Amino acid sequence: MVPVHRPLVEQGSWRQLETHAEKLRLYHLSDLFARDSDRFDSLNVTSCGLTLDISKQRLTTETLALLAQLAGERQLTEWVDSLFGGEQVNCTEQREAMHWRLRADEPGSEVEIELARMEEMVDRILSGHWRGYLGDSITDVVNIGVGGSDLGPLMATRALHQCEPDKGQRPRLHFVSSMDGSHLDALLAGLNPRTTLFIISSKSFTTIDTLTNAATARCWLERGCGGASTALMRCHFIGVSASPDKMDAWGIPSGNQLRFWEWVGGRYSLWSAIGLPIALSIGMAGFREFLAGARAMDQHFQQTPLLQNIPVLMGLVDIWNINFLGISARAVLPYDGRLQHLPAYLEQLEMESNGKSVDRAGQTVSYQTCPVIWGEVGPNAQHAFYQLLHQGTEPVSCEFLMVARRYSDLPVTQDQKELEEQHALALANCLAQSRLLALGDSALGRDESAEPHKRYRGNQPSSTLLMDALTPCSLGSLIALYEHKVFVEAVIWGINPFDQWGVEMGKVIAKGMQELLSGKDDGAGLDSSSLGLARRIRQSRRQ
Ligand code: F6P
Repeated sequence: MVPVHRPLVEQGSWRQLETHAEKLRLYHLSDLFARDSDRFDSLNVTSCGLTLDISKQRLTTETLALLAQLAGERQLTEWVDSLFGGEQVNCTEQREAMHWRLRADEPGSEVEIELARMEEMVDRILSGHWRGYLGDSITDVVNIGVGGSDLGPLMATRALHQCEPDKGQRPRLHFVSSMDGSHLDALLAGLNPRTTLFIISSKSFTTIDTLTNAATARCWLERGCGGASTALMRCHFIGVSASPDKMDAWGIPSGNQLRFWEWVGGRYSLWSAIGLPIALSIGMAGFREFLAGARAMDQHFQQTPLLQNIPVLMGLVDIWNINFLGISARAVLPYDGRLQHLPAYLEQLEMESNGKSVDRAGQTVSYQTCPVIWGEVGPNAQHAFYQLLHQGTEPVSCEFLMVARRYSDLPVTQDQKELEEQHALALANCLAQSRLLALGDSALGRDESAEPHKRYRGNQPSSTLLMDALTPCSLGSLIALYEHKVFVEAVIWGINPFDQWGVEMGKVIAKGMQELLSGKDDGAGLDSSSLGLARRIRQSRRQ
């Protein structure tokens, strides 16, 4: 049974945490480090190839004990059991949220059967047996999707680019999402229709962005390969969706359809056939390692006591920052260029899941939920927005990600040595930045006599996630960690992280605006801004 919803602020430990925060606010992070020289030892946890360091957060072990008490009052353990028990934790859509089943390794299950179908396609493409309509082998694969049907595969494919498939030849992989055609426009001119395969990825197979890009791609193919035909569709299109009937209607042959299920949320779907581009990039064996890494994190999440449990700790730290220290911005800062798409992926995962203001009982919440999350590859962000982090007025919780080992398995050449040094430089920058942000002037050994514009206030809290190496397995663990962290926060806030009603209406009202722009509708009843802008657009397009 899904636990009964209880209002959050009535919980005893909520009040205790408020009182505790008043006391702790008086301390600067430099005081907390000065008071306890072993602070790191008591505030870091390692599991699944990841170390989480929260010693640069503005908290103590007493804070964590109170947060664990809050988690107990919020019945976190019972909620975790409900999630993994396949109960309908998505209350507004009466659905289970079973993304974890996609990596559960259950022989004979529907998931395994679909994975086997995916493997067969991957083998045919990588081995060169999948041929284009005119008999050519496939050199380029274009994934057309948006949101969860784009961000996850894009992020993981780029992160793991250095992992080659165990057999066969990897095609070039491209990602197309932009509704306005910018991605396709830039891509198609450099592609050969005879050797290009499209994956149309859409859970619903109704998303206009994806269907419009797919239609443009189909016209391009038909022009390049001599006209429309069923054989052309069979040779150049794969569909991935939870709606097989809609794939049928679009013309994807059933043998080219990979399916997943309504119980997988779009932003949790990269473990399903939505991950096909990942499998094409790293091979099916690599994809299974990716699933195994996530499975290890699922087990860690279910079996580990709260205060050694990495997703729980990360979730509780966020709750502390947002609800008790009033820090409503978080920056995700990977110090590894391979993780460049992680911030965008997490923006959807976290803000689409927990950007909610109504609790499970339908009541408007009286506390803050998901903060604003943004990010960038750390060293590049240093030259962009770190000024605000160091000297601006906004408190921001930073999340640093580092990979300890990189380039060490390359052949020992001059390049390898130089690249290893570059990697070490990036790691040094990460350590320097998190130290300066935390300790401010005291990290520089300065007193208060420095000119005001040269002072570093410090006290900006951060967590650091250190991975031993970036592999399919460790990336799987990292992404599953974030999924569970989002769930922990949702349980504490009493909200449903698995729906996204806030983005549904935009799709509906855009239809009306299309009519207005084409002049088919006069827009009676619309506001003057929408009408005025539409008028200008029409005028400009007429010219
Ligand atoms: O924008 C909302 C959303 O429904 C996301 O949740 C989802 O990942 C994205 O659109 C794409 O949806 P689909 O996979 O159905 O095309």
